[in-house]
Amino acid sequence: MEVENLILLSGECPGLQVGRSTHSGVDFELTVLPQGGNLLGRLNSLSSDRKHAVKALVTLLTDKLAQEQLSQLKMTLPQLSLIANYAVGYNNIDVASAQRLGIAVTNTPGVLGDATADLTLTLMLMVARRVWSGALQIYQTGQFPGWSPTYGLGIDLSGKTLGIVGLGDIGLRVARRAEVFGMKVIALESMRQQIHQTQISSVERVSEIEFFRRTDVVSLHCPLTPSTQNWLNAERIRALKPGALVINTARGDIVDEQALAEALNSGHLYGAGLDVFCGEPVLSETLRSAKNLLVLPHLGSATVETRAAMGARVLENIRALILGISPLPHQVPIS
Ligand code: GLV
Ligand code: GLV
Repeated sequence: MEVENLILLSGECPGLQVGRSTHSGVDFELTVLPQGGNLLGRLNSLSSDRKHAVKALVTLLTDKLAQEQLSQLKMTLPQLSLIANYAVGYNNIDVASAQRLGIAVTNTPGVLGDATADLTLTLMLMVARRVWSGALQIYQTGQFPGWSPTYGLGIDLSGKTLGIVGLGDIGLRVARRAEVFGMKVIALESMRQQIHQTQISSVERVSEIEFFRRTDVVSLHCPLTPSTQNWLNAERIRALKPGALVINTARGDIVDEQALAEALNSGHLYGAGLDVFCGEPVLSETLRSAKNLLVLPHLGSATVETRAAMGARVLENIRALILGISPLPHQVPIS
């Protein structure tokens, strides 16, 4: 039977069932591309008829689509009019180039705030309390030196000031959790994110000078854009209080990793917790040898419930596309 609305998935995604489906009278087929190699090469598995039936492509944040790849994609899939990124961040796609080619780009906002905020607090607590090194010692040697007044000392989060960079959906949820842990929360005024009108926030917004003067724990929740690339650079790291913590659950490229490693090794920073880093999935040697650094494998949204909700967001956009609705529910702006 002829397929009219073919949707390609770059990988299997929870919440997106492969095969033919009908949603509110809209029919489409979801199919997963073979794994291995770059996205364009993987399209070779499709017949010419199927290439012509492709309306949308569901991408992962590991798929990098710059101008050149997008042009080739459009040549191979002439009916392609949606790239639905299975992520809230969309720095992996050149949105302006996609739009010039008549391809809308959507993301999955508003569903991964709780999961990412939970992971942010996990990182903060693990670094502040040196959970990782203590657990590792037991794991590697089967024991620890025994309880002592000075063994495994960390620092309290309560009473400290959390400085949020990017007070959007995720940043706000981090703020609420941190307040429960007894932290004072401030946010960088110049890094405003879009937040839902229902999310009224009491978080104090401060200038950059004030932010660096007061922050004990800095946590990044802004998108990666040309203006946030390398934002936490050597100069800003130096401006942080001695003994501060750095937490990043946003994108690796927002932080100058060399400068971060130097500040950890010199003792200027107490510690750092990263769920994201430059050049994922391979950690640089510089970071591998940095002191009191905990790195996690990009787990921010990795819960069963959240990944299913992200799939549902993708479906909303696919259905709207097929129904000819514009703009699509979660169409991203050109930054
Ligand atoms: C995860 O990093 C996302 O952007 O969804
Ligand atoms: C700690 O285990 C305590 O009892 O103080």
